[in-house]
This record gives sequence, C-alpha cells and structure tokens, in this order.
Amino acid sequence: MDKNLTKTQELELLSSLESRAESPLKFGYIGDGYENWVRIAEKSRENKDLEFEEDLLKKDSLPFIFREINNDTDTVNIIDFGCGDGIPMLPIFEYLATLNIKNINYIPVDISQAMLEGSTRSIKARFGSINMTPILFDFEKGEIIEKILQISRNKNTHNYFFLLGNTIGNFDNTEKVLSNLKMSMFSDDHLIIGNQISNLINTSKIIKYYQEKEKFDFFVRILQNYGMRCQPNEYTVRWNEKKKQIEGFLVLEEDKKITIAERTLSFEKNEEILLFISKKYIEESIVEMLNKAGFRIDLFTTNKKKDNCIISVSPTRYRS
Ligand SMILES: C[S@@+](CC[C@H](N)C(=O)[O-])C[C@H]1O[C@@H](n2cnc3c(N)ncnc32)[C@H](O)[C@@H]1O
Repeated sequence: MDKNLTKTQELELLSSLESRAESPLKFGYIGDGYENWVRIAEKSRENKDLEFEEDLLKKDSLPFIFREINNDTDTVNIIDFGCGDGIPMLPIFEYLATLNIKNINYIPVDISQAMLEGSTRSIKARFGSINMTPILFDFEKGEIIEKILQISRNKNTHNYFFLLGNTIGNFDNTEKVLSNLKMSMFSDDHLIIGNQISNLINTSKIIKYYQEKEKFDFFVRILQNYGMRCQPNEYTVRWNEKKKQIEGFLVLEEDKKITIAERTLSFEKNEEILLFISKKYIEESIVEMLNKAGFRIDLFTTNKKKDNCIISVSPTRYRS
C-alpha cells in the first residue's frame, strides 16, 4: 500500500508514537485519507449540521468581510489554510464574482497533496477563470510561506486568509499554529475563521458525534496503513474537562506492533494511543485565544442557535 508520507513525516510519526503514544491527526488527511475525510464532510453537509451552518453564516458575513474591495482593486488573493475539498469556498467565489474584480487568485495551503488537488478541482469546475497556486505546507512548522509573501504584496491587492471547518481545534498548540500562519500576513490582511461554538454543559452530545464508525476509520487509517490492526471496540472518546477538549484513544486489547521507517515499535495490551484532540470553544475562550496569538477582531458573528461563528481578524503588534 502506498503510504504517501515523506521520509521526514514517517520519522515524525515514529517519534510521536514512540515518545508520546500519539498518532498525529494531520497525517490522516494525506493520500487516501482524502476520500475518508470527504465521506465525513459530505455526511455533515447532507445532515445540515456543522458545515452547513458555517456556510449560511459565511454568506451573511461576506459583504462586511470584503468591504474594502473597490474600483481600484486589481487583485484579490484568497488563501485557504487547510483547504479540504474546497467546497466551503464556493459561496466566497460566488460572492466575489458579483464584484467585478480583474484578478482573483485561489491559493489553497495544505499538508495533503490530495486535498490541494481536490480543492482546485472543485473551484475550477465552477470558476474556470480563477488562477490557482496550490501550496503544500505543514502549518505546524514555524516557517514563512515565501510564495504567499511574493504574491500578496503587489499594489492594489487585497489578501483574505481563511481557516474554516473547525480546523483550529485540532492542533496540540493552537496559539503556535496561529502565530505560524501570522508570519505570512501583514496588518492590512484579514484572517477569516469558521468554527463551532460549543455547549460545554452537554459534552455527551459532542462525544456521540466522534463515536461514529466513519470517524474511527478516519482516525486509525494511518496506523492501519503501517500494519497495526485496529478494532472499533478498542476506540474510545472522552471529554477532558481541564483542557476543554474531546480526546479519541485506541485502548489496545492485545499487544501490538507497528513498523515505520524500518523500525518496529511494540505496544502492550491496555496501552492507550491518542488519535486526535478537538478543542471546544465558547465565545470568550476563542476571542481570548485569538488575542493571545496577536490578532485583533474586526467581526464576530454567530448563527441563531449560537453554535457556529465566523470571525474576521487582522494581525496586530499590540497583544492584550
Ligand atoms: C477539518 S479539515 C477542514 C477542511 C475545509 N477547510 C473545510 O472547511 O471543510 C482540515 C484541513 O486542514 C488540513 N490540515 C490539517 N493539519 C494540517 C497541517 N498541520 N498543515 C497543513 N494542513 C493541515 C487537512 O489536510 C484538511 O484539509
């Protein structure tokens, strides 16, 4: 089976499993993880839950988000951090198409080549004249994305960065990831975040969402690709009250081995491997986290049910 990880990524996976018993979720999106993830996203869109709510909210917010675009604007760059299949960006391009802009560039940024291909395919199918510059990049690495700086500094150009679909909650160190992304932004750029707002009193409902079979398949795929057999009855989802996050584990029912980069790791029965975390935010905690990471908030809007938000922020030197 083609595992699709680079040699360095294999070593990162190996060290993470060996020293922390953690399987980094980001590797699950690579290669055939694309199909697994699209299956989950499509179900969510059909059920009109999280993704759908974010779409409605986004449509209402777009006139304010793009308010600086005027007749002098030559180019609009849409940088899509963690692009997925690109479908959540379609309402954005629909709106931009009404504004008579000379050049629109779509710049998806993702750790997964399959996601980059999927997102450019989705946008090209509907908006053939949009220029595409996909960038393969892991935003947990603290590096400036040079390509973005090269295309974003031209005259009469507006840059809008997007981080949609509950992506910020999945990082171990969210603040660090946001600071990394900020390195490629200037103070007149905008970052638009779409995220869930959670009712932390009813965490059992949130847990149920992560217990579904297709979520298990997605979370264990990378371990299975390297030869570890994983059974659904070994999968458990818990709420971590201290860290305010959902955590998914594989609790081993037997001794297991996994071979990565020609090195074999052994795990004992009852050991736990962390498969994913998903931080859950209330309005105050998401604002606090963005301020701490050095962003000022221009727009914060929630849907009627108050379970989804769209936030537009810009980098600031002045931390609160
Ligand atoms: C939850 S999906 C959201 C996709 C899309 N934005 C949406 O709203 O449907 C997360 C996306 O972020 C990407 N991703 C996750 N971790 C990443 C990392 N460390 N660096 C770059 N991309 C990452 C995944 O490949 C995936 O495309």
